Amino acid sequence: MNAGEAGGFGLAAPTPEAWFAAAAGKLATLLVDHANCEKKAASTAVGLMFAYGEELDFGRALARLAREELRHYEQVLGLLRGQGIAWRRLSPARYAGELRRGVAHAEPQRRLDLLCVAALIEARSCERFAGLVTRLPAPVADFYASLAAAEARHAQLYRDFAAAHAAAAGLDCAANWQRLALLESGLVTRPDPEFRFHSGPPAPPAAGSPA
Ligand SMILES: [Fe+2]
Ligand SMILES: [Fe+2]
Repeated sequence: MNAGEAGGFGLAAPTPEAWFAAAAGKLATLLVDHANCEKKAASTAVGLMFAYGEELDFGRALARLAREELRHYEQVLGLLRGQGIAWRRLSPARYAGELRRGVAHAEPQRRLDLLCVAALIEARSCERFAGLVTRLPAPVADFYASLAAAEARHAQLYRDFAAAHAAAAGLDCAANWQRLALLESGLVTRPDPEFRFHSGPPAPPAAGSPA
C-alpha cells in the first residue's frame, strides 16, 4: 500500500484518538463486537466465493481466508471465556450497512466495489488492532498484535483482486478506491451514538439525556 495514505493502510483518514480512548474503557463490548466482525468477515469471503466462484485461484484464496477468519472467531470466543465476559447480542454498527450503500448493483462495477469495500474493512481492522496493542491489557494486546498482521494480509489480497478485476474490466481502480475510502473514513471519524469495533468516536450525550 502507498505509505502516504493514512497510517499506511490505504485509508483516507486515521481512527480518531477518541475512539481508542473509548475502546480501552469498553473491553467487553469491543470483544463481543469483534467476535461478530470475525464471523462476518468469514461470511463475506464465502459470499464472494459463491458470487464469483468461476475462478479457481480466487475461490481457493477466499476459502483459505474464510477459514482463517473462523479461526479468529474461535480465538475471540476463547478470549471472552478467559476474561469472564458473557456473550450478548449487539446491534450492528452503522459501518457495514452504510458502506454497502456505496456498492453498485450492476456488474462489472459491483465486483470491484465489493472487493474494495472488503479491503477497506480489513485495512481499518488492521489499523485498529495495531493501535489497540499499546492500550489494552495482555493477553488481548498480544492477540491483537497477531491479528493486525493477518488483517493487513487480507486487505492486500482483496486489493490485489480488485486491481486485477479493474484491469480486466477496464475500470479505474484508483478512483474507485478513493471514492470508497472517503465514504469509509467518514463513517469512522464522524461521532457515533453507539460504540462498536468499527464505530466513529463517541457522540456527546443528546441534550436532556441523563448524565
Ligand atoms: Fe480476522
Ligand atoms: Fe481479515
